[in-house]
Amino acid sequence: MRLLVTGGAGFIGTNFVHQTVREHPDVKVTVLDALTYAGDQASLAPVADRISFVQGDVADADLVDRLVADCDVVVHFAAESHNDNSLANPWPFVQTNVVGTFTLLEAVRRHGTRYHHISTDEVYGDLELDDPAKFTPQRPYNPSSPYSATKASSDLLVRAWVRSFGVQATISNCSNNYGPYQHVEKFIPRQITNMVDGVRPKLYGTGQNVRDWIHVEDHNAAVWAIIDRGRIGETYLIGADGEQSNKDVVELILELMGEPRDAYDLVSDRPGHDLRYAIDSTKLRDELGWQPRFPGFRDGLAATIEWYRQNAAWWRPQKDATEAKYAQLGR
Ligand code: NAD
Ligand code: TYD
Repeated sequence: MRLLVTGGAGFIGTNFVHQTVREHPDVKVTVLDALTYAGDQASLAPVADRISFVQGDVADADLVDRLVADCDVVVHFAAESHNDNSLANPWPFVQTNVVGTFTLLEAVRRHGTRYHHISTDEVYGDLELDDPAKFTPQRPYNPSSPYSATKASSDLLVRAWVRSFGVQATISNCSNNYGPYQHVEKFIPRQITNMVDGVRPKLYGTGQNVRDWIHVEDHNAAVWAIIDRGRIGETYLIGADGEQSNKDVVELILELMGEPRDAYDLVSDRPGHDLRYAIDSTKLRDELGWQPRFPGFRDGLAATIEWYRQNAAWWRPQKDATEAKYAQLGR
């Protein structure tokens, strides 16, 4: 199989490429990545001799057409991915997430190529804290932020290209990922690297917001299950029953890093901040036999903390610029 992985130098894409090289050695991987602030070719250094790397934009129709012509399956991770950035400047989200997805869909339509679309549970909006419901594939889309609205738009393009043009596509919507190689702008790496630098963790608002955490290895194993056995045209929700309030996560990071559990600061809230996400992954489990294989959140978080401690050379170059952006937002 010749696999084109877009966004393979970002957090989840990098882990996907590493996992693919390790567990699917017959697959020939080509990465297409624009190397924005969020992409780092150094993340692919451990597998550099096993893959091909192309620096370029998913909205570049000629380049995308050439690469799609030369592959059997496309997995589309590339995106602008951070909510706070989308509130400060939404345009790159429209360009990459919507126009970029459109460009790929037109290419896979021309070449009859199998396409898997990576998306987020944030397309569904949010849940009340005490709502017994979780997100299911039947739930109507109701995105809150420019990020989630552009991801929802891209999902709807995929559905239309399946129905109208017979494109051979599947979609997955996953909950919040954690693990190695995540950019320091995101919640968990930001707090770990702040603490390495002697800075107290920062919780938006009251810290009561809930996210449904999954280890990135479990997400990517589910993506492989869908590539291998998923039904064309279907949407699969990926989640590992990992609901935690932000406050609980910060307290656990503090404990695991040997600090008092209350040594954090509350900062101003994110505008439109989604309250709670929760995934019902029954369809994925029942239909495709997927199960999370990573040990519990505490162990996964401890391993992630250790990774950031050992790999300061990887995240250090991004840290100051990231914190300067947050300082402008007062967070
Ligand atoms: P990331 O920001 O870490 O990585 C994005 C990658 O895409 C970077 O390497 C960047 O250089 C590349 N990229 C950006 N614009 C591009 C363009 N125009 N052309 C080519 N490459 C471009 O993101 P991530 O956290 O790895 O997320 C990957 C995908 O997973 C996204 O589609 C995101 O919506 C989805 N997702 C993320 C999470 C999460 O918790 N991080 C959860 C569910 C779904
Ligand atoms: P984030 O990693 O940005 O993911 P998302 O917005 O896609 O869920 O944030 C996760 C949660 O953590 C979200 O509720 C916002 C919150 N948060 C903080 O409390 N402090 C921070 O410094 C950051 C970056 C996020």
